[in-house]
Amino acid sequence: MESLNPPLEPRNADTAASDSGATPVRSRIAPVSAERLLENRIVAMADRNPAAIAYKVLRTHVLQQMRANNWKTLGVTSPTLGNGKTVTTINLAISLARDQKHTVLAVDLDLQRPSMAARLFDQPVPGLSDYITEDRPIEELLVKPDIERLVILPGSHSFTHSSEILCSPKMIELVNEIKDRYADRLILFDLPPVLGGDDVMAFAPYVDALLLVIEEGKTTKDQLTSAYELLHDRAKVLGTVLNKADEGSTRTGYSISY
Ligand SMILES: Nc1ncnc2c1ncn2[C@@H]1O[C@H](COP(=O)(O)OP(=O)(O)O)[C@@H](O)[C@H]1O
Ligand SMILES: [Mg+2]
Repeated sequence: MESLNPPLEPRNADTAASDSGATPVRSRIAPVSAERLLENRIVAMADRNPAAIAYKVLRTHVLQQMRANNWKTLGVTSPTLGNGKTVTTINLAISLARDQKHTVLAVDLDLQRPSMAARLFDQPVPGLSDYITEDRPIEELLVKPDIERLVILPGSHSFTHSSEILCSPKMIELVNEIKDRYADRLILFDLPPVLGGDDVMAFAPYVDALLLVIEEGKTTKDQLTSAYELLHDRAKVLGTVLNKADEGSTRTGYSISY
């Protein structure tokens, strides 16, 4: 498999000091291969891929709203499992990071089924469960996937009582800490599905905005209505992404088909 960069041992990758003057973040670098990304539908770097253009349109919409409201955190969720939250989060994060004005941190907060790392990296990496259960410092868990201005905080093991853990003081402290560390860093959270438990309802107050990924031919009107009802603060929902859309579908602003 061709690697975008030669494999590297973990080392200090992100040495920029934080705005708060805190200790610089020491992320490990993990190689990503172009083939692996494409196999996993991570296409935002492939300029000629039509889906990459759709992600750029989504990026611009998200950026405009985030900037207008001075927001920094965006949660990506969907009504049910498998609608494309993780694929959307990673592609949007890459697309946002390619805009040179800011850096992006993508955090795997789907504690039910963490899958961000497996989509990006050839080898398993430690992740949030090591912070949750073993108090491993976050600095040791951040990974740079050889994509400029992008840092990943992966999940690792899944948790049964995910909503309690997601909203535990330890996790909220973590969310506040990563929000405050950099003034110009956008933070994307890959969340569990809204209808798959109470995780998103419980966590929604801690994010500035939410994006709802729906799946063409699978998400029903009832599921979408129920998801909106459960979210309470609908003003937080920036929009819906129609994923796995048939070509030419125009039912929502962002149709991602590939
Ligand atoms: N636009 C798309 N077109 C085709 N398949 C897709 C698309 N987006 C995601 N998938 C596939 O759907 C499955 C679920 O995607 P994933 O992002 O893991 O969903 P979720 O995180 O919502 O559970 C994966 O196999 C993924 O490759
Ligand atoms: Mg997922």
